Amino acid sequence: MNRAATVLKDPAFARLKSAVIGATGLAYYADKDAALADRVSRRLAERGVPGLADYLAILDGEGPSGPEYQALINELTVGETFFFRYAEQFEALCAVAIPECLRRNEKSRMLRIWSAGCSTGPEVYTLEILLKRHFAEQLRGWQVSIVGTDINGSFLETARRGAYGNWAVRGLPPSVLAECFDRRDDQWVVKPRFREWTSFALFNLVEDRLPNYPRGLGALDVVLCRNVMIYFDEATRGRLLEGLHAALAPNGWLVVGHAETGPQVNALFTPVPVPGATLFRKPLPGVDPIAVLAPVPVPPEAAPPKAKPASKPSRTALVRRRPASTAPSTAPAPASDPVPPGLPAEGGDRAAALEAYLALAERNRLDPAVHYRLGLLEEELGVGDPVAAFKRALYLDSGFALADYHLALAYWRRGKLAPAQRHFRNARAAVAGLDGTDLVAEGGGLTVAELRSMIDLWFSGDEA
Ligand SMILES: C[S@@+](CC[C@H](N)C(=O)[O-])C[C@H]1O[C@@H](n2cnc3c(N)ncnc32)[C@H](O)[C@@H]1O
Repeated sequence: MNRAATVLKDPAFARLKSAVIGATGLAYYADKDAALADRVSRRLAERGVPGLADYLAILDGEGPSGPEYQALINELTVGETFFFRYAEQFEALCAVAIPECLRRNEKSRMLRIWSAGCSTGPEVYTLEILLKRHFAEQLRGWQVSIVGTDINGSFLETARRGAYGNWAVRGLPPSVLAECFDRRDDQWVVKPRFREWTSFALFNLVEDRLPNYPRGLGALDVVLCRNVMIYFDEATRGRLLEGLHAALAPNGWLVVGHAETGPQVNALFTPVPVPGATLFRKPLPGVDPIAVLAPVPVPPEAAPPKAKPASKPSRTALVRRRPASTAPSTAPAPASDPVPPGLPAEGGDRAAALEAYLALAERNRLDPAVHYRLGLLEEELGVGDPVAAFKRALYLDSGFALADYHLALAYWRRGKLAPAQRHFRNARAAVAGLDGTDLVAEGGGLTVAELRSMIDLWFSGDEA
């Protein structure tokens, strides 16, 4: 019998498995006994330990900061990563999130970014490369920190060395390789000028306390936690998302992997769709991120008087001016029946929410915001006719910038590029001439300048 098979048959295997998943969050191994046994058997061989009971005794004796615990984690974690991975997410950060952080932090002149689950570090260096490439001028004199953390100490050693093989830089054009790396033997070594803001630390996202102020994590502007939560179960993901939410500054930005989006993220963060990617934004205090996505029934008697249709379309009808302070503490008031906070985000509840919203739209037929929110919900759930809902909103208020924007997105997702472009243009026209710091109504704190950057992303290719 080979070593892995022996480990699988060991009576203590179930205990070890549950201890491993509990300590790391790697529920990924819940149905991968053979893979887990194989990796654990390597540690047993290395330590010359005969069985799992003895091995568990070593782990218990050392505790989670001990060398054997760390060696086991190093065996178990999957560190696939490379430079500029999901380039469209980095483009979105540079086009929308970083400019917003620069405006928001112009007084403190601090920018704090956390790559949570950074593996060997390419994500972290990619950020510094892009910040230096696009924002060198604006960031002069700023205190910038890009902290990469991971549970795997050997990944972090590679990250600190900043030296990589061909696999980590795959797909990068020669010009980028020459700009960002020195060639040393057969390694690509990140140039010193792209290692000024980066640092790395051991951090267990499941067991360590978030936010971790002693390590300088807290009130962060941007958190990237990409391709980490896919290994966790739903409960662990939920706890982690709450922790990341707490660690972010109000209006801060979260980036997750493409496979990690969904109701759990939407329940805490406002999705901000940009071409090829969705960023997530921590709403300002008091703003419910999913008010537009998961409404609950509003009793008719609670509904305020119905809005009248604008006799003459007003381009600024749904845009409110941001208060004098740079960070507004309240969102724009909803333009129709108030939607209570703390709403359900999951399947059946969301179906009920859709029912409720259809009824709400029926009662508030002349309110553009209600049709707009219904469109968002239908688009999110993949039901109904969101295009029609956005069109109704625009019929009632032709200057409703976000309705134009989401109608354009809906067309774009359906491959209808000409109408998509037309409505992106309309959205841009709807906010033309407005102050960049004005808040876009129904935008959950989104400013006119941010909406402009989002729209401009769609015009950065052919149209230019
Ligand atoms: C697939 S890599 C993702 C790397 C990078 N974020 C990217 O998308 O390219 C997943 C990383 O999550 C780390 N990880 C897994 N469980 C963790 C935990 N409980 N705490 C911190 N990091 C963890 C792994 O060590 C691994 O480096």
